[in-house]
Amino acid sequence: MPKQRILTGTRPTGSLHLGHYAGALENWVRLQDEYECFFLIADYQALSDHLGEIERIRESVIEVTLDWLAVGLDPHRSAFVIQSYIPEHAELTMLLSMLVPLNRHQRNPTLKAEMAQLEEENAELSLGFFNYPASQIADIILPKAHLVPVGEDQAPHIEYTRQIARRFNRAYGEVFPIPRALIGRVPRLVGLDGKAKMSKSLDNAIYLSDGAGTVERKVKRMVTDITGTHPRLRPTDPGVVEYNPVFEYHDAFNPDAAEVADLKERYRAGRVSDSEVKERLIKALNDFLDPIRERRAAYAARPDDVRAALLDGTGRARRTAEQTMQEVREAMRIIYT
Ligand code: TRP
Repeated sequence: MPKQRILTGTRPTGSLHLGHYAGALENWVRLQDEYECFFLIADYQALSDHLGEIERIRESVIEVTLDWLAVGLDPHRSAFVIQSYIPEHAELTMLLSMLVPLNRHQRNPTLKAEMAQLEEENAELSLGFFNYPASQIADIILPKAHLVPVGEDQAPHIEYTRQIARRFNRAYGEVFPIPRALIGRVPRLVGLDGKAKMSKSLDNAIYLSDGAGTVERKVKRMVTDITGTHPRLRPTDPGVVEYNPVFEYHDAFNPDAAEVADLKERYRAGRVSDSEVKERLIKALNDFLDPIRERRAAYAARPDDVRAALLDGTGRARRTAEQTMQEVREAMRIIYT
């Protein structure tokens, strides 16, 4: 039996943070043996709303690749893929955009939220951006993926992919598997500021590439209640553990469950200071990040290997994509000679 396939990816608009790790990356690392994996750097998708920032995207392609290598994605087992180097992706997106009903497209909640965000920022909304969910369907079905491990915010795109893959299969014959989403252990990691989501654009993230001092500074500034309006003033004040970002991070990243349980108990009883809880978190996060930092530095010193990983994976993905596009053309009868 050939292995089933995974396709998943990232927009190269900045480095990856703890939210990416607990929401998705961790699963990618774990599933590399069980599945044939394609990890996509979705630069077209990044360009769709950052067309004027090509230098930032170019840097981010390398930063994201270093983050991937640092957390343990293995470019020999798994293919690292540059989206725009796969011309078949653009072809399939074109065909899908004719197969997708406009009213269905407009109901996509993730797209809706992002469009509202762009509008709020008075940013220009391009046709390419509006179409990116169709291009993401092409990303997923081009290698005929069975599984798409992602963060919770991406779930609507996977549901959309399932519908369109079914629609294609009904109209033209069984070409595509119907892919499943796999949401990570921490579907949505709270931001340092208590906002619902850790995100680069909200500037409330700890990056996998942050140094120990940066982590320390960021944790010390963290809010301990999500409203930011009820700071706990004294260590003797009874504290609230639920929805407290500091404890959410402890739960997500501190492997010492006994320590976390003890801190929670003392916090509730007013027997531990905020600063002690934060000190323990700083230690846990830096212990978690240290090996990642070491691997990142080792790869950063070998830019030729990083480039080779990207080109090799992209080549493998390209061969798969050519095969699928051939099948698509045959199924749709787009053959004239
Ligand atoms: N939209 C995803 C994000 O913003 C990135 C992405 C592009 C993706 N293509 C994909 C994710 C295909 C899963 C599958 O993070």
